[in-house]
Parts: sequence; C-alpha cells; structure tokens
Amino acid sequence: MTKRDQSRIVALPAPRVDSAYSLERSLAERRSVREYSAESISLADVSQLLWAAHGMTHAGRGRTVPSAGALYPLEVFLVAGAVDGLEVGLYRHRNATHELELLMTSDLRSQLGEAALGQDWMVDAAAVIVIAGAVRRTAAKYGQRATRYVHMEVGAAAQDIYLQATALGLGTVFVGAFGDRSVGQVLHLPEAEQPFAILPIGRPV
Ligand SMILES: Cc1cc2nc3c(=O)[nH]c(=O)nc-3n(C[C@H](O)[C@H](O)[C@H](O)COP(=O)(O)O)c2cc1C
Repeated sequence: MTKRDQSRIVALPAPRVDSAYSLERSLAERRSVREYSAESISLADVSQLLWAAHGMTHAGRGRTVPSAGALYPLEVFLVAGAVDGLEVGLYRHRNATHELELLMTSDLRSQLGEAALGQDWMVDAAAVIVIAGAVRRTAAKYGQRATRYVHMEVGAAAQDIYLQATALGLGTVFVGAFGDRSVGQVLHLPEAEQPFAILPIGRPV
C-alpha cells in the first residue's frame, strides 16, 4: 500500500467548533469510563475526538493543543472497531488534512488490551485512540528536556479527548499501563515513534 492509494484514505467530516454543551459542564462531568455498551459511534464523533486531540485551528496556523516550540511531535492513531461507515482496522490521523489513513484491516482491540497488561475490557470500546510520538522532533531543539515536554503535550491532548468525549455523551479513560514494546508491535509503529497513551472510546453503559 502506498501513501497515495486514495482507497485507503477516509475524509473526516469537518469538526464542529461550537455546541450547546458548555466547557464547564464537561469539566464537571468528566470521569474515567471503562464499561461501554455495544453501540457503535459515528464518524462525526471520531472526527470531533481526533480534532480535539490535536486538530488544526486558526486556518491551519494553530492546533487545539499547545506544543513546545510548535514542533508537534505527537502522532494520533485510531483503532476502529464499531464506527459507523468505517472499516474495522488501524488508521493514522492525518492532521493537516483531517483524514484517516488505513494502515491495517484487522481488529486490534483485543491485542491492544493484552498489550495494556491485560486490560481486556478495552475490547468493548467502539474505538481506541492511541497517542504516540517522536521525541526526536522535540529533542532537535530542546535536547534532554524533550521527553518531559512530549509527556506534557500528551497530557494536554488526552484531557482534550476526555472533555470532548464527555460533551459527546461518550466515555473514555487514560490508559497509561502498557508495555511500550508490545503496543509498538501491535500498531507496527515506526522505530522513531513510541506509544504514550491509550484512550478507549465508547458509550457508557
Ligand atoms: C497517567 C495516567 C495513567 C492511567 N492509567 C490507567 C490505566 O492504565 N488503566 C485505567 O483503568 N485507568 C488509568 N488511569 C485513570 C485513573 O485511574 C483515573 O483517572 C483515576 O482513578 C481518577 O478517576 P477519574 O478519572 O474518573 O476522575 C490513568 C490516569 C492517568 C492520568
């Protein structure tokens, strides 16, 4: 598969930049959710969550998350299980164009749960967002401090996902307990990228 294979590219609906659900309510309601109904989620939900994670703003000159030196080391992946209109599989979010690039057509939710030290409830999530990143992008400017900076950025992106999920009536949880190597193997991450956070998404039961 080449990157130019358009059959492997899924355009996401444009994200909303307003809603009747206030930020304050989202902050007040946010909780970690680990039990999900069997309901699917929509492509619009996926679009909104990925945009919240690190989406473009200010006509492509800004993003929803801050980044040290505006170097943007994060890469965001979607493991799709039950998303309306989306083939089951692994996707990379192409942030600049707000598209999904299909990388693999297998259902990786169970393997991901195993890689997360047996957190197998993850298999019930409609989709799973994985935040990975290339520390060396930030290290080029900030040297040894880069690892700390990238971890800070992951926290910002994860909180955005939590708050957006809450506003959409969905649930998520920041999963930080996992084997780096195992998750890297499940997602076939390139050598330069490592996984930092797993956020399963589903409708709370
Ligand atoms: C860095 C980090 C790692 C976490 N790792 C896990 C995890 O591996 N599995 C899990 O079920 N919850 C995990 N959590 C979620 C916490 O358990 C949860 O935030 C905490 O119990 C407080 O509950 P609340 O988020 O509903 O307020 C993690 C949270 C953070 C911030």
